[in-house]
Amino acid sequence: MKLYHNPASPFVRKVRVVAAECGIADQVQLEELALTPISTPDALQAGNPLGKIPALVLDSGQCLYDSRVICEYLDTEFDGGLFPATGVDRWNALRLQATADGFCDAAVLVRYEGFVRPEDKQWSDWIDAQLQKCRRALDVLEKESSSFGGSCHIGTLSVAIALGYFDFRNPDEQWRTRAPALAAWYEEFSKRPSLQQTQPV
Ligand code: BEZ
Repeated sequence: MKLYHNPASPFVRKVRVVAAECGIADQVQLEELALTPISTPDALQAGNPLGKIPALVLDSGQCLYDSRVICEYLDTEFDGGLFPATGVDRWNALRLQATADGFCDAAVLVRYEGFVRPEDKQWSDWIDAQLQKCRRALDVLEKESSSFGGSCHIGTLSVAIALGYFDFRNPDEQWRTRAPALAAWYEEFSKRPSLQQTQPV
């Protein structure tokens, strides 16, 4: 399998973490792409008309895209056990994943606003509104973190990846002061080899 990737993307990292948790990281060949929302390499566009990463080209040639689809594919095909099958556990894990992915969406938009948009067109109110989404998500995760324990599933992995991306791109936010219980959980959870091996660069 070939994964179109960028080492900074939290959504690509999620796929790599899930592959590692499934024990198949060595079956995923990484192909790095330089891209922005306004420049998409042709090879990626051929597989994913939306021109977004992650995109996973299967050995059959079919291309899967959207990190949630790819993660569920890997978990199903390689028995990862990261998606609780039914009931409250399933909906809690998926809701946590949605919270963490939305956090990453907002943080990536902040990054693009500063990095891709010309300086004279940047809009500080818009950046602030995105950061407020991240802060509100942090407040919810702080309250819920006492229930995370040592559970490793798609929800807790997604939360750890979102926090790692915030550390990487928004170190000035000092989220640990705002969310100390979440920080204590993250300190331990982020020792997992799958997370250690996939730090954003
Ligand atoms: C980043 O540089 O932060 C980034 C790169 C690719 C996708 C998302 C984020």
